[in-house]
Amino acid sequence: MRIRKAVFPVAGLGTRLLPASKVLAKELLPIIDRPLIQYAVDEAIEAGCDTLIFVINRYKFQIAEHFDRAFELERRLETGGKHEQLRQVRDVIPAHVRTTFVTQSEALGLGHAVLCAAHAVGDEPFAVLLPDDLIWHHAGPGALRQMADRAAASGHSVVAVEDVPRDQTHRYGIVSAADASARASRIDAIVEKPKPEVAPSTLAVVGRYILHPRIFELLRHLPPGAGGEIQLTDGIAALLNTEQVDCYRFEGRRFDCGSALGVVEATMAFALERPDLAPQVRGMMRNLLAETD
Ligand code: G1P
Repeated sequence: MRIRKAVFPVAGLGTRLLPASKVLAKELLPIIDRPLIQYAVDEAIEAGCDTLIFVINRYKFQIAEHFDRAFELERRLETGGKHEQLRQVRDVIPAHVRTTFVTQSEALGLGHAVLCAAHAVGDEPFAVLLPDDLIWHHAGPGALRQMADRAAASGHSVVAVEDVPRDQTHRYGIVSAADASARASRIDAIVEKPKPEVAPSTLAVVGRYILHPRIFELLRHLPPGAGGEIQLTDGIAALLNTEQVDCYRFEGRRFDCGSALGVVEATMAFALERPDLAPQVRGMMRNLLAETD
């Protein structure tokens, strides 16, 4: 089970970040000086993906522009000798990586968004990354790379998970795992956004998946689930009827960048790790805390 293709469902409205996300796609909002989606794209490329499939809608064409060549800008930087900035602009997509854009014309749910990418994926295992979940693993391989290694070794589909407080289960897909404390385990059941009192566990799905293409046929026939939407979680539940799917506790830290609080947390965490920013940022944080205490 080796993955080459990564699907980015980015047709959502981003209502938790209004009004910033009214005109600008929430995936293009910056975490310091890089758009949010760039982190997920870099993670997919690091995991070995060379084909990136973005599921967009009519309001999200700026995402295609971000990953396109900026000929005039590049020429200007080149003739001006601004080599470092030129490298940053070109590094958005390495030369060996292809991008494809498919549209989801109606917001019918995450499962439907993934199904919109079926023809671009074809009959091979693929990754799904939800860019809102920014996962950072400073000391080693990214979350998708860890999962890809696992999928290559086991031959099974893999879903990223982490523990959440019980009062948060209604915000996530929740799995019941054969061995809940293991780094990787077989999933026995998966349910979308259960209320805390009926959640089978507190092991929540985070936005990284490696899936067998059989899921497309299952998604095609799914009735609407939680919230009246075609849910990817329900497709995975259907996959469990015929094959093993594993959950995987990735190493790294997740920031929920679909929310204002997550954006602030990620911004602070990344600033404190950047050698060019950290010394001043530390001082700023100390001053701000002293002033507001
Ligand atoms: C989606 C999935 C959910 C998963 C979550 C992770 O929900 O449907 O199962 O736990 O992403 O971020 P959303 O956040 O799009 O409502």
